[in-house]
Amino acid sequence: MYQIGDPKEEIMTPALILDLDKYRWNIEKMFKFSERSGVNVRPHAKTFKAAAICNHLIEAGAIGIMTQKLGEAEVLLNSGIIYGDKNILISQEIADDYKLERLVGMNVAMGEGKVLTSIENIEEARKISKIAGKWGVKQHIIIEMTHGRCGIAPGEPTVKLAKKVVSMPDLEFRGIYGYEGPVERMLALERNKQTVETANMIRKEGIPVEIVSAGSTGTYEVTGTYPGITEIEPGSFVFGTSAYGTGYGWRTHNEVFFEPSLTVLTQVIGANFKDRVVTDAGLKVMSGGHRTADPPVLVKIEDEIIDVEGVSLSEEHGTIRFKNSEDRAHLKWGDKLEFVPSHCCTTINQHDEIKVVKDGRLAAVWPITARGKYY
Ligand SMILES: Cc1ncc(COP(=O)(O)O)c(C=O)c1O
Repeated sequence: MYQIGDPKEEIMTPALILDLDKYRWNIEKMFKFSERSGVNVRPHAKTFKAAAICNHLIEAGAIGIMTQKLGEAEVLLNSGIIYGDKNILISQEIADDYKLERLVGMNVAMGEGKVLTSIENIEEARKISKIAGKWGVKQHIIIEMTHGRCGIAPGEPTVKLAKKVVSMPDLEFRGIYGYEGPVERMLALERNKQTVETANMIRKEGIPVEIVSAGSTGTYEVTGTYPGITEIEPGSFVFGTSAYGTGYGWRTHNEVFFEPSLTVLTQVIGANFKDRVVTDAGLKVMSGGHRTADPPVLVKIEDEIIDVEGVSLSEEHGTIRFKNSEDRAHLKWGDKLEFVPSHCCTTINQHDEIKVVKDGRLAAVWPITARGKYY
């Protein structure tokens, strides 16, 4: 079906494609920023899910990775990406006893402190402590301080929970995270202030707070330079896709830009019409995109993004309507083009592998290691 070295146009469609140069440019940009600003980067692997990408990021200087789910942490930990002092931080709370056993078991098998988890309440802390005590290991804990999703309220409630965690002998309190969301600069600053102030309140109680994490791709500069934030947790920068972007790069209201490196290669299978073509990539290979994204995907022909009237995605078809007949006339039945998805995280999760292209040729095929690990 494919051979390494094949020209991109010969890859069977639909196929998920990574432009290696753009992807590397994005990684370099993020880690140059990290060096300049002194903030640690813990990329959020829920975005890219591939062990090969985790490896690149660790080599580039990441202090570890974040995952949203236990299942992602399990497969990525077992893929050998976490060596030396690197670790994984699970950002979503876990309420299920069976899953908590699996969480602690990872630390029993791979070493204490290899997989940290976030909590938002005392019940969760007690459950984890009981399991850890049974094994004779300490489970390392981070508290999620809420800015509107899960987590516990900033200030006193977070301090109280931190004190409780510290009082439990089978838990090790490591810090807090206050993911502020992909919000505009002023709101990010406001939220970072609450996060850092809360960390300082905990310190005033004589409790060390090593990790103070926040930040996303859209806020990496604002949050990464905010005094007191020790690490940032961006994910989508690797692929440079965003609902707010121009060219679906991250050119947001915060003026962030990364190169769109992720595309779906697709083939024209319906060309009997003056105003549109139909291709073989629909919702089953690409997420419908962010709610705010219009069109849901961009259209790229011969490496140029073209201005179209609209794109509609149904299950197996992608229909492109053109603004002018010249653009339409460019394409004939059997031609290949690319879609740039607006939501990379949900697109990646629909594929077993990603085809890595360098200078127009297939250089490698990477498995999406944590694909489907939604638990
Ligand atoms: C907890 C947490 N941290 C960081 C991120 C990173 O987001 P982005 O992919 O926008 O960089 C997310 C995204 O949803 C998140 O949920």
